Amino acid sequence: MTQHPTEPMAEQTRPEALPSAMALLSGRAAGVSSFNRRRALQGLVMGTAGLALSPLTMGQVEIPPGQIRLMFNENPYGPSPKALAEVAKILPKTSYYPGAIEDDLMGLFMARHQLDREQVFLASGSNEGLQAAMMAFGKHGKVISPTLTYSDHLHYAEKLGVAVHRVPLRDDMAIDLEAMARAVDDSVSLVYLCNPNNPTGMAIDGDELRSFCREVSPRVPILIDEAYNELTDKPAYTSMVDLVRGGANILITRTFSKIFGMAGLRVGYGMGHPDIVSVVNDNVMAWRNGVGLYAAYHSYLDEDFIAFSRDKILQGREMVNATFRRHGIEPLPSQTSFVYADIRRDADVFKAKMATRNIKIRGIYEGYDTYSRVSMGRIEELEIFDRVFAEVYAS
Ligand SMILES: Cc1ncc(COP(=O)(O)O)c(C=O)c1O
Repeated sequence: MTQHPTEPMAEQTRPEALPSAMALLSGRAAGVSSFNRRRALQGLVMGTAGLALSPLTMGQVEIPPGQIRLMFNENPYGPSPKALAEVAKILPKTSYYPGAIEDDLMGLFMARHQLDREQVFLASGSNEGLQAAMMAFGKHGKVISPTLTYSDHLHYAEKLGVAVHRVPLRDDMAIDLEAMARAVDDSVSLVYLCNPNNPTGMAIDGDELRSFCREVSPRVPILIDEAYNELTDKPAYTSMVDLVRGGANILITRTFSKIFGMAGLRVGYGMGHPDIVSVVNDNVMAWRNGVGLYAAYHSYLDEDFIAFSRDKILQGREMVNATFRRHGIEPLPSQTSFVYADIRRDADVFKAKMATRNIKIRGIYEGYDTYSRVSMGRIEELEIFDRVFAEVYAS
């Protein structure tokens, strides 16, 4: 399983805390008795990375009892009940590779955005599309990215030899489009932007981004990660899909992990210039998850669920904003399912203190030592967060 450097895995599944599979098989793991070894091997056979965890707490999708999980940008209200009902019908047929559902799902994107078949692609989570684009373009030159941004695919590509040049944010924590445009020269093969940005939550103004894209995209392709677009104040204005429709040298990635609440099902998609889409398709590695595609198809059509999901996330966002403000902290203006704020103390220490109260939030990112990120949980979980935050902040 690919783990996100920016999105740490649940404590109980961290590989460094576990003996390696080879060590377990050979009995070399320190302190592993034959009994424990047997149980650990059972864990491996059951599809986990390791130790004797009960089946109910194994894996990343199971949450330990009582834990309030505000550290990943998940949507606890998903998946759509209609989609789940449809998925139940397809499960008995999963001995077969997925077929027409791929075209059916892409047909929905084409109809919604008035795009041709060559302008859309599917991936196993948007991260896979991002990684594929990074590798495909990054081998021909540098990738330009803001400093503080979603970085899983950037780290992945760097490990495989791609050079990523980071452009600092402005003082107001906005992405510095002017500096990014200035950084583009002949050595650059791709520009990456996350809009709205993670972890700041801030969206780039639609018109400013349009002029940046018009200026820069004729020289170099632009990859825009729109994972949170559906949660922005004005999704159509904020998205650059109109430029894709007009044939610009742009690739947009979207995901079913956020507003659709399907992070565990791994479905993402992209929309872009046919030449970019074709290159990315050639670099995507995983075959599609048929169950995920069915769920995505029916979620995409479930307008009631999408509206419900958005309402709950926006309501939660206001609650988290209010929690911060009650303590004199002004959060950054988020248009996403998380809030980022300068809590004026060490963010890792604060995160650890919250964790002892069973509330998981994010700590330090990329040198922003006093900023915390809090993702949306259920409303009742955010009420508990509010209470615990007050106690821990006062301690
Ligand atoms: C901005 C952004 N892009 C992409 C992803 C990856 O999402 P997925 O691979 O689940 O579609 C995330 C996940 O947190 C994200 O925050």
